[in-house]
Amino acid sequence: MSASAAPKIEVLRVSKQFGDAAAAPVLRDVDLACAENEFVCLLGRSGCGKTTLLNIIAGLVPPTAGEVRVDGEVVTGPGRGKGMVFQQNALFPWLSARGNVEFGARRSGLDKAGAGRVADELLDLVGLRDYGARYPGELSGGMQQRVAIARALALDPQILLMDEPFGALDEITRLDMQAELLRVWSSRRKTVVFVTHSIMEALALGDRIVVMGGGSIAAIHDVGLERPRSRSDPALLRLHDTIWQGLH
Ligand SMILES: Nc1ncnc2c1ncn2[C@@H]1O[C@H](COP(=O)(O)OP(=O)(O)OP(=O)(O)O)[C@@H](O)[C@H]1O
Ligand SMILES: [Mg+2]
Repeated sequence: MSASAAPKIEVLRVSKQFGDAAAAPVLRDVDLACAENEFVCLLGRSGCGKTTLLNIIAGLVPPTAGEVRVDGEVVTGPGRGKGMVFQQNALFPWLSARGNVEFGARRSGLDKAGAGRVADELLDLVGLRDYGARYPGELSGGMQQRVAIARALALDPQILLMDEPFGALDEITRLDMQAELLRVWSSRRKTVVFVTHSIMEALALGDRIVVMGGGSIAAIHDVGLERPRSRSDPALLRLHDTIWQGLH
């Protein structure tokens, strides 16, 4: 991350209030800058506003005040260049697993044959090579989530916004998917904003961990450890402790 480069994503004094002016704000004056190719984790308790902030960055929800800029331009809608993996699975039920991933690839501009190839590659990547013909309703929750991840990757977006993407996965698959995501991220270089409530997951993945609480950013930690990271690295465990204490 070069100090002189303009940020890829800038969140500028963003506030969000649902309902009338008397309602307590969900986000209050949030400022955050993500550098190009940076992997940023948003961490916080349930209900602290992580999804709301991610949706505002995505352009899916308008802020009540403030703005988000991508490459210096104010975000006014979803637009291209941003891939999203939702907390609640959002596959097209009328398309097969392969059809869902192909859809993402077609949106990135590939022709039918190219999109088919990319879909096969990505289904393989998420361990669903043999499930391409199945419809979402015929897949387990974790499998559906992996299809959603493949569909987001198929867009080959510059910015990947991921809302607890591994939350529905078993621990073993989750660790595999973390490693795969890091592999994709380091080979294709993307700016990633990744929401999680797992401190360990944030420590395994992020360049920086943004801890949210009470509608604002409570702390930002630079992880500064080489990847792949060992879960028993004393430096990582010390940071785990610091974050844990900060959350209480
Ligand atoms: N559309 C909405 N209308 C009204 N209130 C909302 C809406 N969306 C979110 N909220 C409220 O905003 C707060 C933050 O919600 P948000 O979904 O951003 O939390 P979160 O940090 O993602 O939680 P979790 O970890 O459980 O997913 C909650 O109090 C929630 O009830
Ligand atoms: Mg959420």
